[in-house]
Amino acid sequence: MSQPLIQITDIGRKYVIGAETIHALKSVSLQINKGEFVALMGPSGSGKSTLMNILGCLDTPTRGEYILNGINVSEMSDDELAEVRNKEIGFVFQTFNLLPRSTSLDNVALPLIYAGYSKKSREEMAQKALESVGLGNRVDHKPNELSGGQRQRVAVARALINNPSIILADEPTGNLDTKTSIEIMGLLEEIHSRGNTIILVTHEEDIAQHAHRIVRMRDGLIEDDYPNKDVKNVSPRLAALREKGTDFENI
Ligand SMILES: Nc1ncnc2c1ncn2[C@@H]1O[C@H](COP(=O)(O)OP(=O)(O)O)[C@@H](O)[C@H]1O
Ligand SMILES: [Mg+2]
Repeated sequence: MSQPLIQITDIGRKYVIGAETIHALKSVSLQINKGEFVALMGPSGSGKSTLMNILGCLDTPTRGEYILNGINVSEMSDDELAEVRNKEIGFVFQTFNLLPRSTSLDNVALPLIYAGYSKKSREEMAQKALESVGLGNRVDHKPNELSGGQRQRVAVARALINNPSIILADEPTGNLDTKTSIEIMGLLEEIHSRGNTIILVTHEEDIAQHAHRIVRMRDGLIEDDYPNKDVKNVSPRLAALREKGTDFENI
């Protein structure tokens, strides 16, 4: 039996501000297996980012249990969490979060410094990662010399560089126009088809349709969780495979 990659049970997260307590997550249980592509949806304030922060080990729940890749992370110290995070999680944010003064190559190579690679290996690995997202000719550019879509590609390459167990993307297309959003979704589709697990927060139905499972939140609870019967593919390679009826869920 393969173990689920993510198993959270009765997770709660409350914020206490003065006399007020906000239950951002009331009770959330969720299991996500390796290789899934999940869209997390829900209105603003429903707890999506709070849940993503917990899944990404940026925050800990105030109650409940979180087992990530067989490790109980619910009660870890900040240092232990940082280590798990560096090893297991790749983040992609709406605002790209790149270092403005660093080149694409240096931005992508950054996580490898903490992993202890030599400068030469870091640069070789970052070069390959940038090539894999179609930016082999933009390695020496700084973020302000790149388009929004290219910046997000750099961020995706950085998220992948440590070969993480999960890619967490919180509104990755939120700052992009429609055409560029579609390109980024094609890239995420390709990454998923290579066996990566992706959890994507979006409030756009169109974007969620690229995922294979849809989880809907409301008021700190999961309201709905179902397989997406009508997956949309924009990557031409994957669309052609789907047309032929090839099951690439598990390749
Ligand atoms: N650091 C915080 N301190 C206090 N309240 C917070 C904090 N972060 C989020 N919240 C509250 O928790 C609820 C869920 O927020 P969030 O997870 O950001 O929702 P979403 O990402 O779905 O818009 C909201 O009511 C929000 O105001
Ligand atoms: Mg949010």
